[in-house]
Amino acid sequence: MGNYVLNHWYAAAWSSEIGAGPLGRRLLDEPVVLFRQADGSVAALADRCPHRLVPLSMGTCVEGRLQCTYHGLQFDGGGRCVHIPGQATIPPKASTRSFPVVERYGVVWIWMGEAERADPVRLFSISKHGQAGWDVIDGGYQRHPSNYVNIIENLMDPAHTTFLHSGTIGNPLAGEQPVATERTDDYIVAYRWLENTSPSPHDRRRLNVGDVPVDRGQFFYFHLPSTSRVETIVLPAGAPRDTDEQLCAGLRTYSYKFLTPETASSTHFFWMHVRNYQVGDDQAAAMLRAALERTYQEDLEIELAMQRAQEETGLRQLVSLRIDHAPVMAARMLAQMVEDERA
Ligand code: FES
Ligand SMILES: [Fe+2]
Repeated sequence: MGNYVLNHWYAAAWSSEIGAGPLGRRLLDEPVVLFRQADGSVAALADRCPHRLVPLSMGTCVEGRLQCTYHGLQFDGGGRCVHIPGQATIPPKASTRSFPVVERYGVVWIWMGEAERADPVRLFSISKHGQAGWDVIDGGYQRHPSNYVNIIENLMDPAHTTFLHSGTIGNPLAGEQPVATERTDDYIVAYRWLENTSPSPHDRRRLNVGDVPVDRGQFFYFHLPSTSRVETIVLPAGAPRDTDEQLCAGLRTYSYKFLTPETASSTHFFWMHVRNYQVGDDQAAAMLRAALERTYQEDLEIELAMQRAQEETGLRQLVSLRIDHAPVMAARMLAQMVEDERA
């Protein structure tokens, strides 16, 4: 087991990924198998048959039970063996660990720590999801071949967007604008307002404001230990922005990434995008999805290159800059959280 917070709901899969057959996935360096039971609910088990350790994910679902592909032992959602072909008595050891699971927002969330602490109340809550006037792009997934701390640092670091994403989301005006940082016990946020700037062609069309200048807010949240939420707001310059309602009068997006470590050098990157413009416009959503995928792919390539260099050198960085403040603080808070849990 690596350096992970265990007592937390992690995204394990999109609900749509769990169909008629089992899904095997490595989570927090543990092999896990997910499958649907007879009542449609998802179960998660350690992906090892107690007989000969064959991955249960190689098997099939039979009437809501998971059947090992080798000798046909069947397991229920609690990981208990309920059938052994050719044998009436079931040895007490014939079981595999089960993990608490909750499905919400189209995501299967798994709790890999102490099962008795797995309270659904502690699930991350997704702002505006399912509300009228808001649209969701979900199902986003990339496997990032890098340690999840590299990814958290990337997501807390707006300074790279001007350069790495110059062809996608980069804004040359943002390059010189520093961010402010705030933190609580649960999250850290780096944010900035770019005031009185020109709207992008996209903003112009979506806001329907012609060529008037705009104020653009960017908020980069890291909710410990695994969720990034990037919020952007575009308002006509000078518009009030004290209340949630005033902020929603402009273009508003919430871009979520649910990071689940796969191994020490790879991460499941589930992404979801929530917006209050072009609602119900499937064509716009498809274009937005493709643009987001492209942007995240740019990050993936950098993270992979960094991961390789880190493994080669055993180092993380040689010099610190001012732009590292929020990323370094996020990584420290995470390390502290892991340490506190161990203690
Ligand atoms: S290894 Fe699974 S039933 Fe034998
Ligand atoms: Fe990026």
